[in-house]
Amino acid sequence: MGSLFERLWAKLFGGTADEAAPEERASVKRIEPPVANAFVEQAPAMESESAVAVLEDAADDTGVAVEPAEPSLNDASGAHSVAHEPWWCIDGLGETSLVAPERPELQGVARAMENILVNQMDGHDLGMPPLPEVAERVMRELRSREYRVDKVAQTIGEDPVISAAVLRMSNSPIYGGVSKITTLKSAVARIGASALKTLMMHQSLRAAIFRKDGEDWQLGKLVWDRAVAGAHVMRGLCRFTHMDEEEAFLIGLMHDIGNIIVLREVQKQEAMLQYVIDVPTFDYLCYECHQEFGELIAESWKLPDELQSLIANHHSEPHEEDPLRVQRSQLQLTDMILSLLEFTPRHDYNLLRTTSAQELGLATSESFMLYLDRLPEELTSAMGSF
Ligand SMILES: [Fe+2]
Repeated sequence: MGSLFERLWAKLFGGTADEAAPEERASVKRIEPPVANAFVEQAPAMESESAVAVLEDAADDTGVAVEPAEPSLNDASGAHSVAHEPWWCIDGLGETSLVAPERPELQGVARAMENILVNQMDGHDLGMPPLPEVAERVMRELRSREYRVDKVAQTIGEDPVISAAVLRMSNSPIYGGVSKITTLKSAVARIGASALKTLMMHQSLRAAIFRKDGEDWQLGKLVWDRAVAGAHVMRGLCRFTHMDEEEAFLIGLMHDIGNIIVLREVQKQEAMLQYVIDVPTFDYLCYECHQEFGELIAESWKLPDELQSLIANHHSEPHEEDPLRVQRSQLQLTDMILSLLEFTPRHDYNLLRTTSAQELGLATSESFMLYLDRLPEELTSAMGSF
């Protein structure tokens, strides 16, 4: 019987360490967590858990308890010293800042759509998605420090969809108290102004994406899932950055709002030309135009100045004097996480080595690694209940 190392190697990879090619030893298989598609599928078990399970199996054979290796924080690759790398650490070779997608080969209709969109970046002739009237009035009332709960509740009551959402939220586990809330006035009092504003934005975004006459629901769902996942990740990262959770959630939800204009234009052209655009082309068109379009919507919806600034410019790295440096770094880290989890086009990032993680002081944080290990499962659960 070989050494413990040799038996572990055989369990993990088959054969012996000596038989394996050098590159196989150096480069371990990474997990593929298709969380973006996990609303119908169970998220895969965490890689670190798999490694622990293998080590426990080995202990059964030998009768000797084997402790899982601690992450090697000083490893230049940033990789764990366990046998498999986690989903958030790609062989030490991953990208360290946000990657711009490559321009796909655009032909015919797709190139025409690109021209139409680029020519509308100045906002002329652009059909702006409206902020639903009730949401707009609620937002206006909540801007006053001394808003009246009964007045806000009355306004909300004019829209049955928003009313249902407010009541549902007030009874959710986050806000739920001992007693069940059945009136809008009590719901408004329990939720508070900040969360109500987020809810109004959430409802407005949803209404703008899923229009009755919107033809391509597949692309709409893509845009919506990305927004919701971004909101959850932004809020989750607050435990490390101490940003206000409600503010972070709103930023995550709204930062790519410009995608809506691309979506609406694509839907219009698809209906006119009986043509279905592919997802990579849609992704590229979104990337090319969404910050400019987002800025236009943010102005039109009178979003707070800081949020407008982030919507208009969140893909370039923050400069030294940027007053929104933390928010921008947290947002970029969120975008990289969404890419690794395949909510957005996939790029390989080594999250611990990204400039955003370093900027936020997370490059060697074990609690951050633990958070990342659990994130796919948490996100699947959160998305399912949203
Ligand atoms: Fe973006």
